[in-house]
Amino acid sequence: MIEITGQRVLLRAFRPDEFEALYEAHAASDSIVGTVDRDRIRRRVEQSGTWVDGRLDLAVESGGALVGSADVRSGRMMLPGGVCEFGIELWAARRGAGIGTDAVTALTGWLHEHGFPRVQAGTAVRNAPMRRVLEKCGYAHEGTMRAFIAEGGTRADYALYAHVALA
Ligand SMILES: CC(C)(COP(=O)(O)OP(=O)(O)OC[C@H]1O[C@@H](n2cnc3c(N)ncnc32)[C@H](O)[C@@H]1OP(=O)(O)O)[C@@H](O)C(=O)NCCC(=O)NCCS
Repeated sequence: MIEITGQRVLLRAFRPDEFEALYEAHAASDSIVGTVDRDRIRRRVEQSGTWVDGRLDLAVESGGALVGSADVRSGRMMLPGGVCEFGIELWAARRGAGIGTDAVTALTGWLHEHGFPRVQAGTAVRNAPMRRVLEKCGYAHEGTMRAFIAEGGTRADYALYAHVALA
């Protein structure tokens, strides 16, 4: 099982009894796009901690408590080899305390060491906290993906960031 240690975080597999917490957090989230599917979240919990079909789901733990989730996507159908992208979501009460910066730093370093010279992340242009985290972690803003994701009756522009480590 994959475990990634940061200064204040541990990224690890979800425990089976954490399913409800993840489901509740996603159901309450204002940043998850689309419907929250219970079975899909259950599969993510069951398969977490290991790559399955180019996807890696991880729990974010800090101070011994579950504080959020992260996921990495890669795979030939989606991105060129050596490229992956990730998302991260912390429980609302745990945001703004540096956990996201620590988690993204640790995850990025681990991905570079495990076959991904390019790690990328997209976030809504208006998502100032995530954009700030990416910038603090050394990601470069590469441009705007226009009308990237459907949101309500419109489509949101996304900022694309990447962190590149070439030997
Ligand atoms: C985005 C997220 C992962 C960041 O994690 P976090 O632990 O809250 O972030 P940190 O505390 O490490 O850093 C947040 C930074 O954003 C800044 N920030 C927060 N709100 C801001 C705002 N409205 N405008 C500008 N900067 C802002 C903070 O000041 C801090 O920067 P600083 O250290 O220079 O002061 C977390 O807030 C989250 O889960 N949000 C909801 C889900 C989400 O948006 N996920 C990303 C989707 S791709």
